[in-house]
Formats: sequence, structure tokens, C-alpha cells
Amino acid sequence: MADQDFSTLTNDNIVAFIGDIFKRRGADSYLGEEVTMSEHMLQGAQLAEEAGASDAIIAAALLHDIGHYTNEFPEDALAQGIDNHHDEAGARVLEKFFPGIVTDCVRHHVAAKRYLCATDPDYFGRLSPASVHTLGLQGGPMSAEEVAVFGANPNLEAILQVRIWDDQGKVAGKVTPDFDYYAPLLQRVVDGPESPLSRRTRSNGQEMLETKP
Ligand SMILES: [Fe+2]
Repeated sequence: MADQDFSTLTNDNIVAFIGDIFKRRGADSYLGEEVTMSEHMLQGAQLAEEAGASDAIIAAALLHDIGHYTNEFPEDALAQGIDNHHDEAGARVLEKFFPGIVTDCVRHHVAAKRYLCATDPDYFGRLSPASVHTLGLQGGPMSAEEVAVFGANPNLEAILQVRIWDDQGKVAGKVTPDFDYYAPLLQRVVDGPESPLSRRTRSNGQEMLETKP
């Protein structure tokens, strides 16, 4: 999809676009871990599905690290995300198409590690060595003030759960479904009533109805 006209990304082709990134870039190493990027994200989705999570939360687990590939996304998205870390960059490219709970889980998955380190005494001991290393670069455990602010997010439970699957999705050689298995689920989430474009379409429809005599 090298000749993709990025301005044409829509609800109808965003899933295929993300799938293309998985296929071309998924074999990239996940720095310091024993799994590739696609293995890591697919393991997260598998853990979410096995836990009986909703489609939106499975989508969040699958896409939480997509921000590592923002250079694959349209120029305007890149311009918005370029000065941010991969968590914020990923949320920015997804928020045009996915519901807020998905982008919240993506946007806050690094901060969730800092939150859990400050609030769960056992959590730190379960982090991989690479994740412990990056914790320092990411600001270390949250302060009490930061915990209070972060803890007020209405999507906190989902954010923390996706983070825990993120930490667990690093098992070398684990068999998972491939991206194509999750593509219909992603499409359902993109087309669902909580998606930004669906909402816009619905409200436009309502306006049209209301202006009719
Ligand atoms: Fe991750």
C-alpha cells in the first residue's frame, strides 16, 4: 500500500490500512523483549478475548502500540503526533475512527504502568526487565497527586486492564490468531454507535430530519 493516498482513509478502509501495517511491520522487534511487535499486540488481543472483554477493549489491546508506526499514517496525523511518545501518537491516529474508550486505553497505557507501580505493591515485580528500564525514562511511579488525577478517568478500569495484558503479552512462541481473525471485530468497533464518524453521521441525519417540515 505504498501508493496509498492517505487523505482517503475512511471507516471503510482503516482496518485494511492497519492490517497492512501489521503485515509489513509486524515482524519488527519489540525492543528488549523476546516477541515481535505483532506477536506482542496479538497476544494482548488474545488475552482480552479469553477474558471475555468487549470488542472495543479487545481492539484497544490489539492496537495499543500502533503509535510505534505513526510514520505509516497520514501527514496530518504525523504532524500532530510527531512530538509525542508512541502512546499519544497512537491515540491521535486512532481517534478519528475508534471510540473514546479505545483511544483512552491506547493514550494512557504507559501512564497506567506508572499508576500501577504507585498503587499495586506486587505490580512492579511482574514487569519485564525492558519494562523496568523504560519506567525510569517514562517518569517512574506516579506521585500521589498524579495518582489522584489519573484515577479520576472514567475509563480507568479498562485502561489498567489493557496495561496488564500489555505486560503479559510477551511470551516467546505463543500461538495466537492472526490479524485477519480480528479484522471483522475491528470493523464492528469502527462502525459501532460509539465511533466518532458514526456519531457524526447520526447527528447529521438527525439534523436533516429536524429541518424537514
Ligand atoms: Fe505494548
